Amino acid sequence: MKIAVAKGDGIGPEIMEAVLKIFEANKVPIEYQFVDMGKWVFDKGFSNGMTPEAKHSIEEMGLLFKGPMETPKGKGVKSVNVTARKTWNTYANKRVFQTLHGVDTVFSKAGIPIDITVVRENIEDTYGGIEHMPTHDVALSRRFITRPGSLQVIKYAFEMAKKKGTRRITCGHKANIMKLTDGLFLDCFYEVAKEYPELKADDVIVDDLCMKLVTRPDQFDVMVLTNLQGDIVSDLCAGLVGGLGFAPSANIGDHISIFEAVHGTAPDIAGKNIANPTALLLSGIAMLRHLGLMENAAIIENSLLYTLESGVHTGDFGDKSIPPVNTTQFAETIINNFGKTPEHGARPLLPNMPVTPTHFHLDENPMLVSKEMSEEKIVGVDMFIESSEQPEVIAKKCQRHAGVKFNLVSISNRGTQVWPTGSIYTNLVNEYNVRFESIDTYPLNQQDVIGLYVSLSGDFKICSSELLNMWGDKKAYSLAQGQ
Ligand code: NAI
Repeated sequence: MKIAVAKGDGIGPEIMEAVLKIFEANKVPIEYQFVDMGKWVFDKGFSNGMTPEAKHSIEEMGLLFKGPMETPKGKGVKSVNVTARKTWNTYANKRVFQTLHGVDTVFSKAGIPIDITVVRENIEDTYGGIEHMPTHDVALSRRFITRPGSLQVIKYAFEMAKKKGTRRITCGHKANIMKLTDGLFLDCFYEVAKEYPELKADDVIVDDLCMKLVTRPDQFDVMVLTNLQGDIVSDLCAGLVGGLGFAPSANIGDHISIFEAVHGTAPDIAGKNIANPTALLLSGIAMLRHLGLMENAAIIENSLLYTLESGVHTGDFGDKSIPPVNTTQFAETIINNFGKTPEHGARPLLPNMPVTPTHFHLDENPMLVSKEMSEEKIVGVDMFIESSEQPEVIAKKCQRHAGVKFNLVSISNRGTQVWPTGSIYTNLVNEYNVRFESIDTYPLNQQDVIGLYVSLSGDFKICSSELLNMWGDKKAYSLAQGQ
């Protein structure tokens, strides 16, 4: 079995060396191909942060074990971490947060056990990084939530929850505000839930979820969330079990998977050999299980748990009255503790059942064709225009362009309706959304919309436009606040 390994930047090489030393001492039957990724690869001029050879090796092997990587600031380059997850469609980010004895937290002291798995959608949402500034004062981000993308990650979460023997799976969302995007994710959640009647599926609005997590974390088991909310909630969960030093992460795709720690390169402690390698080690243990190396995983994890229980710690956690060990000493202690059984949460020694990653080439894209068949029609258009005039003035100008096919129905500013009704207390910025609908919901075609676009452009700079679609009798667009 051969896997690709990228040591990463900052503390990456130190913690990776510690983990590989533990694997080597345990005779883990894996060969490593070291690949070039990270800051220094950006600095060499590779704009995606990896060499073509690294990309080729990872695609050949189907598995990447990586240290944290830095994204150079202010050079217009995108994060290599995000690029890797997106390029190889590792659509599910699984992060496990468990009480570790020896890592004191308010919950461990109160005797409240935590065992939470967060599955975060890993490709979509605002992480497309598709952003524009339509005016000097306004920046916009596009947020993608798609049906096939949501179904893919939610199915993974349910399947994983079933295998884990979970009783509860919770969808975190903000569908009360983002009715179409988070609403779609939530609909997909309950669609998949029907296939798993044995699991208790429920949903919690994400702000309420955060409050409940910090008051009663023991009530949660598996959670599935969209990308940004999942990112925030999983860091919150890391805090519940002792911080980022204990948070492993698996980016799972159908063909390529990436295992890494949740934390970053910790530049403040890099090169000092004092970083905590636990999160990367836990990620590595999850990778061993992914590869079917159950026995190696159990021996190493039991030894880690025993080491933590015995009070051995790096400087970022643990009993301050016991002097900390450095990264190398921490790894050596784990090696010396192979074969010992922790008092709490000992993992059973199952036999190894090695699984070789599949080699795969995508011949067709199964997510490309929509299975939704309802009748579609265009019933209007939102024109986003730049203007520093008052809504009444804009409305008068727009009405002149509406012609015989369109009605000007509303004008909104930052999502709040300001015409035909509104409040003088609503603050305005210099980008408005003027909404035109077809007269008597008469179906429109794109030429009608282009005609309006050309006419309106005589008076305004049109920054962008969005068609107003109907799927059957369902509006595929949101209303402005107050519309
Ligand atoms: P960070 O996670 O690197 O550091 C936050 C704090 O936690 C620091 O005080 C650090 O010393 C501490 N810390 C983190 N890991 C630790 C460990 N293993 N042992 C002991 N202490 C640890 O987050 P920050 O400072 O926001 O990011 C630094 C860089 O890392 C940035 O360039 C960022 O883009 C990158 N990053 C990379 C990630 C990845 O490769 N997956 C994830 C997050 C950030």
